[in-house]
Amino acid sequence: MTHKTSPGLATSMKDKLIQQALERRLRKTGDGAPSPSLEGIKGAPREEFGQFCRFDQFPGYQQLRIMLDGAARFGLANPFFKLHEGLAGAETVMGGSRYVNFASYNYLGYSGHPVVAEAAKAAIDQYGTSVSASRPVSGDRPIHRELEQELARLYEVDDAITFVSGHATNVTTIGYLFGPRDLILHDELIHNSVLQGIQLSGARRLSFAHNDWEAVDRVLSDQRQHFERVLVVLEGIYSMDGDFPDLPRFVELRSKHQVLLMVDEAHSLGVMGQTGKGIREHFGLAGGDVDIWMGTLSKSLASCGGYIAGESALVEHLKFLAPGFLYSVGMPPSVAAAALAALRCLPEDGERVATLQARGRQFLELARDAGLDTGTSTGLAVVPVITGSSLKATQLSSALSRRGINAQPILHPAVPEKSARVRFFVSCLHTPEQIAETVAIVAQELQKL
Ligand SMILES: Cc1ncc(COP(=O)(O)O)c(C=O)c1O
Repeated sequence: MTHKTSPGLATSMKDKLIQQALERRLRKTGDGAPSPSLEGIKGAPREEFGQFCRFDQFPGYQQLRIMLDGAARFGLANPFFKLHEGLAGAETVMGGSRYVNFASYNYLGYSGHPVVAEAAKAAIDQYGTSVSASRPVSGDRPIHRELEQELARLYEVDDAITFVSGHATNVTTIGYLFGPRDLILHDELIHNSVLQGIQLSGARRLSFAHNDWEAVDRVLSDQRQHFERVLVVLEGIYSMDGDFPDLPRFVELRSKHQVLLMVDEAHSLGVMGQTGKGIREHFGLAGGDVDIWMGTLSKSLASCGGYIAGESALVEHLKFLAPGFLYSVGMPPSVAAAALAALRCLPEDGERVATLQARGRQFLELARDAGLDTGTSTGLAVVPVITGSSLKATQLSSALSRRGINAQPILHPAVPEKSARVRFFVSCLHTPEQIAETVAIVAQELQKL
């Protein structure tokens, strides 16, 4: 991957221009660049409304173009949609070159694991590549039920349901279960899928400061009485920051205020706890301490999809009535089989979990020693290096790419501009040498910016 430069412009001047362009863009909150507005054309001839039907005039698209065109003009390689030519594990090949890879959720190395791959292939041979309709209509395959029973066992709860997408799991579950008489409280860093679900539900939404259970206690003392159902939503490990909530405190609030508690384990399953059973194992909690256990199959479990685990009434309700399940195709058998195989490997693979945790700790400790800003990361699989601006994050990612390291910049609006970062996902497949060398290179390259 080459980093092109614009001839004739000094680097410092170029940087200044990019920064100014970014700042201009960021100041234009909401609407971005000039785009059609109803003001001024009310009552105008019908043809003038045609501008609202032009996709190139959509405000979001205009913002995107400013960003992409600006970056291209100033010689920054597009860090998105990179083309991987094979398996993306601790290493990956792109454009014929090999990179140490910190941009995949293959935390336990199960994507590419022969047992997992074999299970997926066998399921295709047995059931074909699709179930071709929703499960209530076209029927289950044994593999769906086995996966759900295995997930329920992991959480020590009654039952589980799997969906074809992790994102859709949150959207449809929250969107369907809650309504305008309800309140949903969520951590300010909660994943977009939860926010979309809340919006769909029509419930009142309040966010609380990151991991601040005392703030939740105060809000609930004040507000609980005004709502029917109240849901508090957390993540097991926060995907941008690599830290986790004090879950036992939230469990206390659950009974104190009579609210429902939901934990999204997308990044904590396979990563936390001695045997990778997630945040529940880390804190030694019971399955019933949380009402809605949610997780994705796309990360540690090397597949695709999401799940909800909990009591029978919850799971049965979703299976018969949640639109994202009822009106959407069932998970392809090969996808269910891959997740099930990974899940069944987990109890035998304590070594992988321990290695993942050790590599993450090593990354974090070395990064801190090198003076890098790793925010609140605990070193559990996700370690950000905060650069302080989207421009710097893009430049750092680009510089790392030139040195054979693949790590993704996270830019505004995914995070606030001042906490733009390059995010490192650690895998149990990384060697201690790869980690040490990467941190050293990050420190060198950051210093040059
Ligand atoms: C916390 C969290 N929840 C849900 C999702 C959505 O999962 P998926 O990508 O499997 O659809 C993600 C994705 O990264 C996530 O980080």
